[in-house]
Amino acid sequence: MSADIASKSVILTVDDDPVTLNTIFEVLKEIYTVRPFTSGEGALKFLETNKVDLILLDHNMPNMTGIEILQILQDNPQTKDIPVVFLTSSVSNEDEIRALEIGAMDYLNKPVKARSLLTRVRLQLELQSHRNHLVELVNEKTEELQEANRKLEQRDKATLDLLAKASDMRDNETGAHIERVVLFAKVIVDDLLKSPKEHYIISEQYGQDIIATVKLHDLGKLAMPDNILLKPGKLTAAEYEIIKTHPLYGAKMLDQAIDNMGEDSLLKVALEIVYCHHEKWDGSGYPKGVKGFNIPLSARIAAIADVFDALTSARPYKKAWDPNDALKVIYADAEKHFDPYLCEVVKRHEQDFIDIVNMNNIVEELLTPETTDMSKVQLNHLATGKPNSHTLPVCSATNVVRAI
Ligand SMILES: [Fe+2]
Ligand SMILES: [Fe+2]
Repeated sequence: MSADIASKSVILTVDDDPVTLNTIFEVLKEIYTVRPFTSGEGALKFLETNKVDLILLDHNMPNMTGIEILQILQDNPQTKDIPVVFLTSSVSNEDEIRALEIGAMDYLNKPVKARSLLTRVRLQLELQSHRNHLVELVNEKTEELQEANRKLEQRDKATLDLLAKASDMRDNETGAHIERVVLFAKVIVDDLLKSPKEHYIISEQYGQDIIATVKLHDLGKLAMPDNILLKPGKLTAAEYEIIKTHPLYGAKMLDQAIDNMGEDSLLKVALEIVYCHHEKWDGSGYPKGVKGFNIPLSARIAAIADVFDALTSARPYKKAWDPNDALKVIYADAEKHFDPYLCEVVKRHEQDFIDIVNMNNIVEELLTPETTDMSKVQLNHLATGKPNSHTLPVCSATNVVRAI
């Protein structure tokens, strides 16, 4: 321990015997700042507003014993980490063990010998300094890890958003459909979290995973042929059979992702939603025709959110429905298409559903060859014309060939 640290260290001593207190003071005062007290009450009062680095505590005192004071120090988060060395003339092994069990770091018998006192105090202060350093290191590393996790979560979210937009842009040009589906699902999830009901009790994590992945429900549309997916008229029976395979394509993509990544709650919830969002409560849905509670709750929520938005949105082949009419359709389909309890949840939050339909800030940039001159589209994050770390140093054919 450096002389500088030692001189700054504050030692609090508590002993009802003024002679002992004075001896300790005289031994330590050249190296440390010493704060002597003749009672526990006075010492505890001092500790309310002052920081100390070590406490030397007498065992036998008239009002409050050393053990009682130690217990109070241990129960207080502000003082529980201050090392305490017991001083006593009692030779009872029981007392020693009790004090050490409660949290004392060391034990010194009285009369205290100067050399022994100085050595024990120095050692305890050194140990405390190492402990503090370790705590600082752990806190630093924890913060770094939390920051890295935050970045990974943001990257996950950005990746999911990209995938969701890519799938949605196959047949919805604006991306607003998936944004609203997320909001509808969130209304239902929030209700389930706030009002737990048998068979519908969900963890915070499951709720968050649903909200984060419901936008991927039509991931499999990426695999659907344009001439069927974008056909303006009615589909033939054969074409409809092909469309009905989109949950399988999406599910296969996610299944492979889970193979590569290992168990992951987010991807598993995404898999449930993508595979089962067209299943119906009465078993008449696709791809498997599972019914009731056999359909994952996440997918039952996605089904309502998806259909409600499809009804209230304008599509090339239909006008947008009034939300009140769409709600009537949802309620009429309780126990047929939709989970009846989830329909009750929707009923409890009708106004939220209507408000989301009427929100006009979810209209995204329309990016299609018909509507946008892509050569004029502004990119905010692409640095062109400046050398950066990814640029080859010299752009000659020879170097390019070597680089390849
Ligand atoms: Fe779908
Ligand atoms: Fe959809």
